[in-house]
Amino acid sequence: MARFWQRPDLIQQLLPNVDLAEVEQLREQADKKLQIEKFQAMEKAVADLPQASDLKKPLNIDLSGPSIKFGNANDLTQKQQDLLSTAIDALSPWRKGPFCVFDREIDAEWKSNLKWDRIAPALGELRGRQILDLGCGNGYYMFRAAADKPKAVLGLDPSIQFYYVFEMMQRFLQLPNLQYERFGLEHLYVFDQAFDIAMCMGVLYHHRSPIEILRNLRQTIRVGGFAIIESQSIDGKGSTALFPEARYAKARNVFFVPTKDCLVNWVKRSGFKNVEVVSHTKVTIDEQRSTKDMTWESLPDFLDPNDSNLTIEGYPAPFRTVVRGQRMYL
Ligand SMILES: C[S@@+](CC[C@H](N)C(=O)[O-])C[C@H]1O[C@@H](n2cnc3c(N)ncnc32)[C@H](O)[C@@H]1O
Repeated sequence: MARFWQRPDLIQQLLPNVDLAEVEQLREQADKKLQIEKFQAMEKAVADLPQASDLKKPLNIDLSGPSIKFGNANDLTQKQQDLLSTAIDALSPWRKGPFCVFDREIDAEWKSNLKWDRIAPALGELRGRQILDLGCGNGYYMFRAAADKPKAVLGLDPSIQFYYVFEMMQRFLQLPNLQYERFGLEHLYVFDQAFDIAMCMGVLYHHRSPIEILRNLRQTIRVGGFAIIESQSIDGKGSTALFPEARYAKARNVFFVPTKDCLVNWVKRSGFKNVEVVSHTKVTIDEQRSTKDMTWESLPDFLDPNDSNLTIEGYPAPFRTVVRGQRMYL
């Protein structure tokens, strides 16, 4: 397994009920996908970077602001700066951020800090908690959570590109309470009642069976714990979901897009209690847009040019809804 610094295995240390042989098997399966040429270029770019211990002085780290921020430009030699540029290019397009790495601002397509601001009040105190982030992307929210000193945050996401972004950051940050596994929602069965909090953000509408995901997510939470569920949604009354004919906002991989009430209903009918809406907001072109680090099309290209309340296909424009639900019983 390509890991760039030695760290304890949090699954082994903290999750006594998890079948470690099964975890090893899943890791072996996931590693097979690393052989693809474009991913090998990413691995090399990250492996060539200096490590925290190669730097002239201890690293300044600031995880408290919108940007995941560490280091200053003058911590690096010119050669190290060049290697950093190579890695940033190799890991583009940058979808989630922002990051500020040795004074290099990485401006991602999504200002993920805005989503963090919406979920943070519902997350509450994270110190000492065991947290799951299902579909964790490049780990942006794991790094934000780390500011509150949780016991552990396990991120699950099959994306190899996002994994290498996480590894690039961890090469410098070396936060021992964060762990990324390239597993998917198909593997939640491994983590029965393992977490105090489970986050599932930006995942449900990309899959054909949102209820099954929510039911399996609930199984990963200990009794008394809770889930933060965030989804693309539409504005509208009643418990209905849009099922796009082909594409939604140009994306092919979108299945059910619920109203706020529908998302609440899904969460309740998946067995969660004390279900509440945390936020329901329209996605703006301030939050999702093309940038110097993500030059492909983005939200302005996905909306009807004459009516920003509609997607280019004529569907209601995207909102984002956050719901919190508790696991009260086995
Ligand atoms: C829209 S992004 C959301 C990322 C992040 N959670 C956020 O809210 O910004 C969807 C994520 O789901 C991941 N994903 C794709 N298939 C998955 C699967 N089978 N299990 C878990 N995550 C998956 C993608 O790699 C991607 O990172």
